[in-house]
Amino acid sequence: MTDEKAPSVDLRTDEPHPARVYDFYLGGKDHYGADREFGQRVLSICPQLRPLARANRRFLARSVAVLARDHGVRQFMDLGTGLPTSPNLHEVAQGAAAESRVVYVDNDPIVLTHARALLTSRPEGATAYIDSDVVDIDRIMEQAAKTLDFARPVAVSALALFHFLPDPKPAELLDRLRDRLAPGSFLTISHVLPALQDVADAYQGTMGMGTLRDRDEITALFGDFELLEPGLVDPFDWRPDLDPAEEGPGYEIVGLGAVGVARKPD
Ligand SMILES: C[S@@+](CC[C@H](N)C(=O)[O-])C[C@H]1O[C@@H](n2cnc3c(N)ncnc32)[C@H](O)[C@@H]1O
Repeated sequence: MTDEKAPSVDLRTDEPHPARVYDFYLGGKDHYGADREFGQRVLSICPQLRPLARANRRFLARSVAVLARDHGVRQFMDLGTGLPTSPNLHEVAQGAAAESRVVYVDNDPIVLTHARALLTSRPEGATAYIDSDVVDIDRIMEQAAKTLDFARPVAVSALALFHFLPDPKPAELLDRLRDRLAPGSFLTISHVLPALQDVADAYQGTMGMGTLRDRDEITALFGDFELLEPGLVDPFDWRPDLDPAEEGPGYEIVGLGAVGVARKPD
């Protein structure tokens, strides 16, 4: 684990933060009263957020396993990583291939603090952490190049991230990112859908962030990358065969979120 920037840790525990509220949904321990209070209010509007968050984490594990095992990917860059939650991306990737190299990116100080302690690599591979707003994608890639070789394929993931960024930020940063990735690279995205309008309103009202996009808008974020089967689908529908622990079909979250993995053509 390397740090790319000196930490300036001001956790602001008096106000909710997206990473900690998400940790609350997942049943983690790294959140504070303000996060719980806001999270409980959101769950009273939409109790399905809890199974949706869990399904999102399981999609992360399955998609990384597929990329590592079936597509031979050994380099990963995860945008908007969130608080460490087992299994973390590097654990899945290095479980498939110990030499896998992973760069994590987030702009939340508590994520930085925990990432340093917990996102530690196997000796054969590497993990690095970049403390940055994802909109600074050029600087992120410059720093990530100390750990990853961008002349070779890299799988970039942005899970449950872009609904925190207003338009046109995701499209702008992804245009620059996709251009600079080698052919055979991958882009993995998960995103909530317009059915969660009340939730987005609550996030906008309290944190000033929450942008919903429909399936066409999410598909557009992949640009000219080609979606792998089964396309852009509900989280539990992406290769469910690989998840023996899948908690049933997940019908209570149908139409609330969309996930997909796409490949840069040769
Ligand atoms: C809901 S969590 C998702 C965590 C993880 N990707 C997952 O899907 O399990 C969203 C994460 O995105 C981070 N985030 C939000 N806006 C960001 C930005 N502009 N730059 C970097 N990270 C950001 C938050 O700090 C939080 O950790």
